[in-house]
Amino acid sequence: MLLETIDLTKSYERRGERFYAAYNVALSVESDDFVCITGQSGSGKSTLLNLLAGLLHADSGSILLDGEDLCKLNDAGLAALRGSKIGYIPQGNSLLQNFSVLDNVCLPWYLTRKSNVRAQARELLARVGIAHLERENPASLSGGEARRVAIARSLIANPSVLIADEPTGDLDPKTTDDIIRMFSEVHAQGVAVVVVTHEREIPSFTTKHYVMENGHLALQ
Ligand SMILES: Nc1ncnc2c1ncn2[C@@H]1O[C@H](COP(=O)(O)OP(=O)(O)O)[C@@H](O)[C@H]1O
Ligand SMILES: [Mg+2]
Repeated sequence: MLLETIDLTKSYERRGERFYAAYNVALSVESDDFVCITGQSGSGKSTLLNLLAGLLHADSGSILLDGEDLCKLNDAGLAALRGSKIGYIPQGNSLLQNFSVLDNVCLPWYLTRKSNVRAQARELLARVGIAHLERENPASLSGGEARRVAIARSLIANPSVLIADEPTGDLDPKTTDDIIRMFSEVHAQGVAVVVVTHEREIPSFTTKHYVMENGHLALQ
């Protein structure tokens, strides 16, 4: 098993009341899985992905990645793991506006390592079809182009799992198809994929479909 959560629980407090955004979540991802997670807005999908990406601390439970429990790591350990094994595409626009497209792709690498990675970043930009935009500012990109940059950025460290939160959320149908095709190529190259998406956008090659409802995750 590449990635597994056991009884993973995360609560928030709102107006003095505690509620569970993720409750005893059991997710399992094999290295050849393409996992889709669907569920209504507010059901806890982003909370779960942020836990998997090590950006949120769980109340209880564990997240095993290659047998190592993320919940037992400190922030430095989490950052190192995030910089090497996990590619993450957050919900919405996550590009840094003060950096060029190319620097956005290189950034995760610069944070953990000193070596130059521009050649790989250029290759990735070519792979997602926007090599010609490397010098542009993210503010000048279309939604689809920005999402391609985020995909290239998520792959810069050769992760073993790619986690994406509604990567086609605000895109037109044609661009949505292009982005889904890119995910299928990444998957075909041996990267496990976990993607939050809409019911109607679940690709045919999906290996597992989970539904999130009020913090509870169930396999379809
Ligand atoms: N930092 C936070 N503090 C309090 N409540 C939060 C916080 N983040 C998310 N929530 C709430 O937790 C629930 C799940 O949110 P989220 O994980 O973003 O759901 P989804 O991604 O499925 O739309 C929602 O009710 C949301 O309002
Ligand atoms: Mg969300």
